[in-house]
Amino acid sequence: MTIPISPADRVFVLTGAGISAESGLPTFRDSDGLWAGYRIEDVCTPEAWQRDPAAVWAFYSARRAAGKKAQPNPAHLALVELERALNLRDGGRFLLCTQNVDDLHERAGSVNLIHMHGELAKSRCERECGAEPVEDHAVYASLDEVGRCACGGRLRPHIVFFGEMPLEMDRIQREIARCTLMVVVGTSGSVYPAANFVHWARFEGARRVYIGPERPLNADAFTHVVEGKAGQVLPGFFHVEG
Ligand code: APR
Repeated sequence: MTIPISPADRVFVLTGAGISAESGLPTFRDSDGLWAGYRIEDVCTPEAWQRDPAAVWAFYSARRAAGKKAQPNPAHLALVELERALNLRDGGRFLLCTQNVDDLHERAGSVNLIHMHGELAKSRCERECGAEPVEDHAVYASLDEVGRCACGGRLRPHIVFFGEMPLEMDRIQREIARCTLMVVVGTSGSVYPAANFVHWARFEGARRVYIGPERPLNADAFTHVVEGKAGQVLPGFFHVEG
C-alpha cells in the first residue's frame, strides 16, 4: 500500500515510542516496555520529583545512556525524505510532532519538529523561573552531580511529567486544524492529549493513517490502519505527486 500526497496536501505526523523500537529503545506499554519495570508515579510525576529527585534523575540518566547508543532507523529516515520532498523551504506543508524525548528524529535530519513531551538531552530549572532549558547530555551517578540554575533551583529533566502541560500546544492545534493528512506512527493511543489528535483531524476532514504492529486504542478514528513495523512500512510508503 502507498499513500498519495498531492500538491494541495499538508501533512501532520505524530510519532510515539514505537518508531524508536527498531533502534533498540524500549516502548512504554509493550510487555517488555519501561512501565513494566518502573512505576510512573515513582519517576515521572511532579510529586515524584518533589519526593525523590534522585530516583527521577536515575531513571532519566538511564534513558540518556540508552539513547546515546541508539541510531536512527529506516522509519526516522523515511520521514526525513518525506519532509524534503514536501519542500523544506516553505516549511509549511510538513510538521513532525513527536511524543518521544529521544533525539533520533533530529539526528536523522528532521527539521520542522516539535518535541511535545520534552527532550532527554536538555535540563531546566525546577522553579520554572523563566530560564531557558539548557543542553545537558550528562548521565548522573548521584544527585550531587546535578547542577543548579542561576536562581538556585535544582536542574530537572526537560521532560513533561504526567500531570504537566505538553509543550507547544497552540502551534500543534493550529497545524492540525490546517492539515489534510495525519500520519500517526507507533503510539498506543493511551496518553492525552496526543491520543485526541486524530479526532481533531477527523473533525477537519483530513485523511488519517496509523502505522504500527498493533491496533492502537483509538484505531476506530483512523481512515487507514496499516499493521506492521514502522521501519518496514514507512520506506517507500508515500507517493508525493507534482
Ligand atoms: N513500529 C511501530 N510501532 C511499534 C513498533 C514498531 N517497530 N514496535 C512497537 N510499536 C507500537 C506498539 O504496538 C505500541 O502501540 O508502539 C506503541 C508504543 O506505545 P506506548 O509504549 O504506549 O508508547 P507511546 O504511545 O509513545 O506513549 C505515550 O506515554 O509514558 C508516556 O510520556 C511517555 O510519550 C510517552 C507517552
